[in-house]
Amino acid sequence: MRLKTIAFLGWFLCSAIFTGSVLAGESENKALFAGLCASCHGETGDGNGPVAETMMLKPRDFALAAFKFDTDANWESGTDIDLAAVIKQGPAVFGGSQIMPAFGHLEDDQIAGLIEFIRSRQRNGSADEID
Ligand code: HEC
Repeated sequence: MRLKTIAFLGWFLCSAIFTGSVLAGESENKALFAGLCASCHGETGDGNGPVAETMMLKPRDFALAAFKFDTDANWESGTDIDLAAVIKQGPAVFGGSQIMPAFGHLEDDQIAGLIEFIRSRQRNGSADEID
């Protein structure tokens, strides 16, 4: 009986901590995106940030998950490797827009967080709101 209680408490604590850190990660990713990317990509990633209005080539709507660059030439664009390379080096290196800067100063886990955010836009299938 006692053992069961302890086991339950242990399980409860672990899952609470795990859920907490996942949630913290999500809001961190969102904040990073809002700070660095939303001026062009829009807060929801729909490509309608305030700066985008002045652009000839709009940043795309991440909800559509249609990516252009195949940075490692494996015949597939928009893989994690491709997105990380575009974010780190900027699209211009891969023949794309000069407008988006390179974010080479970001840590790998920050890049991974941004990719996670971009992917979360796809999963929702709509960029209407950000939770
Ligand atoms: C100054 C405006 C601007 C900012 C800031 C900006 N982007 Fe972009 N981004 C663009 C434009 C324009 C494109 C389209 C590039 C093209 O098609 O040549 C783009 C394209 C992309 C793509 C699509 C790559 C593909 O293969 O289709 C990703 C992913 C991306 N940006 C992520 C980010 C992230 C993450 C940030 C913030 C760290 C960011 N961008 C900041 C303008 C911007």
